[in-house]
Amino acid sequence: MSSWKGLLHTYKDYLPVNEKTPRLTLNEGNTPLIPLERLSEEWGVEVYVKTEGANPTGSFKDRGMVMAVAKAKEEGSKAIICASTGNTSAAAAAYGARAGLRCIVVIPEGKIALGKLAQAVMYGAEVFEIQGNFDHALEIVRSVSEKENITLVNSVNPYRIEGQKTSAFEICDALGKAPDVLSIPVGNAGNITAYWKGFKEYHDKKGTGLPQMHGFEAEGAAAIVQDKVIESPETIATAIRIGNPASWKQAVNAKDESNGQINMVTDNEIVEAYQLLAQKEGVFAEPASCASIAGLKKQLESGEIRKGSKVVCVLTGNGLKDPSTAIDTVTVKPTVIPNNEEAFLEKLKGGVAG
Ligand code: F0G
Repeated sequence: MSSWKGLLHTYKDYLPVNEKTPRLTLNEGNTPLIPLERLSEEWGVEVYVKTEGANPTGSFKDRGMVMAVAKAKEEGSKAIICASTGNTSAAAAAYGARAGLRCIVVIPEGKIALGKLAQAVMYGAEVFEIQGNFDHALEIVRSVSEKENITLVNSVNPYRIEGQKTSAFEICDALGKAPDVLSIPVGNAGNITAYWKGFKEYHDKKGTGLPQMHGFEAEGAAAIVQDKVIESPETIATAIRIGNPASWKQAVNAKDESNGQINMVTDNEIVEAYQLLAQKEGVFAEPASCASIAGLKKQLESGEIRKGSKVVCVLTGNGLKDPSTAIDTVTVKPTVIPNNEEAFLEKLKGGVAG
């Protein structure tokens, strides 16, 4: 049996955990760092993926949520609230349920992946669909949390960033030091902020070195890249359909301090990476996650990431979160056959020879 006891236990010396902090856990963290053997060879780099979809609710949000919800509980809060493109709401609902707190989530109507909505309702959250986008939802919940006695658990809550930084520790431990480049999708920009904090703290304690941070927004929601708020963000990667990132300044800071970049990828590039990753490497990550792979591919072609580099791409969420996008973007559909072996063999047409 695994002896892994989750993040608050494992990283208590690096986190705001004291004797009064509840040891909340769903055994989050300790996610696999998987080498991409075929793509590495094809592209002439050493690529690994940090598969955050292996967390208990299927995304990296569990790392931040366990910390934020534990602190809310420690502080005597009875309820948590968040705006979400889906994954934050799933994690808040799960950890809220586990901690016995009321959980209220506000999501953009019609723009969240099916699996994420299923999670929020299944874990018993009170779900509100706003007739607006994520940025509008965040504005409302920020204001409500100030007026009511409800803890805000979006990544503007500093405990979220604390929890999420632990992934950088795990990467350094797995590789023996930081990679040359960390490639990461950017939406509300909390995660790039958290990773950079984590790499710096681990380097200060253990001399693990620092990566260049390469963040990727979706082209239709590229506020930081274009240096302007996007009023109506649009992308197939609904998780990062965000036009006014809350941690904008911190993301720019991570880029500047690490001598990195914040760039953008198109929906077509995201979908291409999404399929490549699944079909060449057997790794199924949700579309937003694949912005990290699409960005790497693009910057290898442009020379902005050098061949031979050691690169970790963060795969933020599990592909199963968003079955509709998977079905809608692949051209190959199941072949319908009669209930008959000969007909089946006829359809295979020697495709299984050898
Ligand atoms: N990837 C996935 C799968 C996400 O769900 C998110 C954010 C990001 C990347 C971007 O991370 O916001 O820290 O820059 N999802 C949030 C949510 C906004 O509500 O679930 P970020």
